[in-house]
Amino acid sequence: MRALVIGGGGREHALVWKLAQSSLVERVFCAPGNGGISRDAVCLPLREMSTTSVLQLVRENQIDLVVVGPEAPLVAGLVDDLQSQGVLVAGPAKAAAQLEGSKIHAKQFMQRHGIPTAEFVVCSDPHTAQQYANRWGGPAVVKADGLAAGKGVVVASNRAETEAALNSVLSGELVGAAGMQVVLEQCLIGEEVSFLVLTDGDSVLPMAPTQDHKRVGDGDTGSNTGGMGAYCNDSIISGTLTQRVMKQIVHPTLAGLRAEGTPFRGVLYCGLMITAEGPKVLEYNVRFGDPETQALLYRLDTDLAQVLHEIALGKLITPSLSWKPGASVCVVACAGGYPGSYATGKLITGLDAAETAGVKVFHSGTAMDKGRLVTTGGRVLGITASGADLATAARAAYSAAEKIQFDGMHYRTDIGKKGLERRRPLD
Ligand code: AMP
Ligand code: GLY
Repeated sequence: MRALVIGGGGREHALVWKLAQSSLVERVFCAPGNGGISRDAVCLPLREMSTTSVLQLVRENQIDLVVVGPEAPLVAGLVDDLQSQGVLVAGPAKAAAQLEGSKIHAKQFMQRHGIPTAEFVVCSDPHTAQQYANRWGGPAVVKADGLAAGKGVVVASNRAETEAALNSVLSGELVGAAGMQVVLEQCLIGEEVSFLVLTDGDSVLPMAPTQDHKRVGDGDTGSNTGGMGAYCNDSIISGTLTQRVMKQIVHPTLAGLRAEGTPFRGVLYCGLMITAEGPKVLEYNVRFGDPETQALLYRLDTDLAQVLHEIALGKLITPSLSWKPGASVCVVACAGGYPGSYATGKLITGLDAAETAGVKVFHSGTAMDKGRLVTTGGRVLGITASGADLATAARAAYSAAEKIQFDGMHYRTDIGKKGLERRRPLD
């Protein structure tokens, strides 16, 4: 089959790399792709993220399966449009994708279906919101309702910060129209886990749990980012907790979606907080996570093309996913200044030396410019390694990172540390 991945970041590079290994896949395309993806797939220019442009690529390149990476086209209904033209696509329809498209919708959905999540209120004026925040006291979380590329959430540690956050979101200053309404919710305490499942709406295959590192600085300090690294091994959460997540969160979510006439086909990402009272949903994403996907797919043994093809057909029959033993670690190398403003066009060197056995560098923000690889984004590379255990995988990723250079390059030095320090899985 000929597969087309939509998107151009590190997640899409990992998808392309994994799909290309399938014996079912004759050729992988990516639109628009990036400098690194062009080494593993045929990159196709995408004039704009519209159904017309994607359909044209599908027809011109005789694509059999489309895999959509980012959330915006899913929330806008690309899957519905492609399916109505007879194109096989692995991803949720617009109605199901609103679980990510609107935080208010997601919270009200969870409330309707008894899915554990933080207490919340929906507000559109700062005064009422502040009254709720005062009643709760202490830390609170302010979330813009709409898509905001990860910038619409403020964790406020006291009333003054909550007030400032409410004003900046509701005034449109922080994320524009996406913040016309907000979810104000209680701050949950615990460890975060990314729990992704592959589903055709009925059958479900849980992926191995992963942990993202959202803050820019070591020890989870500094500003929030799109994700500075992730790791994956089998001891993040216990088998009992996995069962509890499936029973209290994943199954009720999929059943709720079916009951509301919006069954979910694709990858459902449950962002969880493991609290003293058990797992609670922080957010849903309706797609693969970035950088979780780099770590996940580097460890996945199962043929992803087969699974995504079954999902696109609405008949998931693969019974389970298998994983390479040990662990994988993805360290994201960023441009100087990221997550604030940063320069682009910096020459990247050292990749050949870095990519030894057990190491793959997935590209997030790179391009080929006159035969040279240069930076084009804030997150530039996802240096990904596997190993017999987490310590070995982390050592391999960091030793590869040391061989790579570009002006301003920075990365966290503690990806996986939480896993290394944990004496037993979260329970
Ligand atoms: P979200 O996009 O909703 O996942 O929020 C982004 C990040 O904000 C999460 O990954 C958490 O680190 C943090 N966050 C969101 N909601 C809460 C909450 N209720 N309590 C504590 N932290 C939160
Ligand atoms: N790693 C978080 C996300 O993909 O949204």
